[in-house]
Amino acid sequence: MNEQTVPLSKPNITQEEIDAVVEVLQSDRLSLGPRLEAFEAACARRAGRKYGVGVNSGTSGLHLCVKALGIGPGDEVLTTPFSFIATTNVVLFERARPVFVDIDEASYNVDPAALEAAITERTKAILPVEVFGNTEHFDAYERIARQHGLAFIEDCCEALGGMLGDRSAGSFGDCGCFAFYPNKQITTGEGGMVVTDSPEVRDLCVSLRNQGRATDAWLSHARLGYNYRLSDISAAIGEVQIRRLDEILARRRRVAEMYDQALGDLEEIHLPPMAQRDRASWFVYVIRLADRFTQADRDAIIQRLGHAGFGCNNYFVPIHTQPYIQEILGTKEGDFPITERIAARTIALPFFGNLTAEEVARVARGLKEALANLA
Ligand SMILES: Cc1ncc(COP(=O)(O)O)c(C=O)c1O
Repeated sequence: MNEQTVPLSKPNITQEEIDAVVEVLQSDRLSLGPRLEAFEAACARRAGRKYGVGVNSGTSGLHLCVKALGIGPGDEVLTTPFSFIATTNVVLFERARPVFVDIDEASYNVDPAALEAAITERTKAILPVEVFGNTEHFDAYERIARQHGLAFIEDCCEALGGMLGDRSAGSFGDCGCFAFYPNKQITTGEGGMVVTDSPEVRDLCVSLRNQGRATDAWLSHARLGYNYRLSDISAAIGEVQIRRLDEILARRRRVAEMYDQALGDLEEIHLPPMAQRDRASWFVYVIRLADRFTQADRDAIIQRLGHAGFGCNNYFVPIHTQPYIQEILGTKEGDFPITERIAARTIALPFFGNLTAEEVARVARGLKEALANLA
């Protein structure tokens, strides 16, 4: 490894998390124990909700949301093509039909007017995403869901701790799910958390994550379920991480501010959109090249930054252009022009709370050189 290497992301783990794991290992409750309950309560509190249900990934949690809201074969679910693939997959798991709605250029979230216009008699639910942690439009989605009697699943996997006015990410949908993969604001290694105010949704998710058990009787199963459990070892890490969330988010905001300052004058790029920048929950720092640049220009910049030792990536590949999605849903390139124009020009820069001012300056210098190098 070259000593210049600055990774794309890095978890923020302290001795406190390590001690918490050791403590669990020294106890005799490694699963479905007190650490899980404590972590669930802390996540629910943070999202302004009554209940949390810990699961082994964000994908599992979103899948349980789809099941718990009764979404099934033939139901249409309005969602975004500009997201991580799991947002769409969980709808397909239940043989329901994802219907994509293009995004709004100013936020990268689903365009609320286009969402409302896409509602038909087959629409059962909406599944928008707080893309890169941005909470913009979630109050509008809530209003639209209420007015049209639609179920609302909030994919807040990238937005833990984010705010819109005085509302928290995770508080808008009938239920929502956070994710804790190591690139997220907080991590449990792998993990996710469903949040909701509905006791019915909570009870169903608790049963479904645990092989469909409805009671403590270990070999009695009330319904078809899964093993989506989150271990107490993971939950112990999460409990410390969420206690440290304000500190972690403040560090990430500081790094975002440093990037904003270092790159703000570059007319070749757009800075990341973000509602309430000074209170935001930053998941990644994704810049976008101006429209006059091509996808090949973007790829050349990522390659050059990679050679210089900086972890960078494109974020995301539009879901409707993934080959198996085209096969299942009949979508094609050209269907969602705003998503495609933006997705072809994004670059996620190295981003984590402990990034130093000197590292940010080096990344910024590397980016400027790469831009200058485009012939
Ligand atoms: C928007 C979004 N949805 C869903 C997921 C799925 O989470 P996980 O990777 O924990 O299954 C992620 C995580 O990468 C995500 O960013």
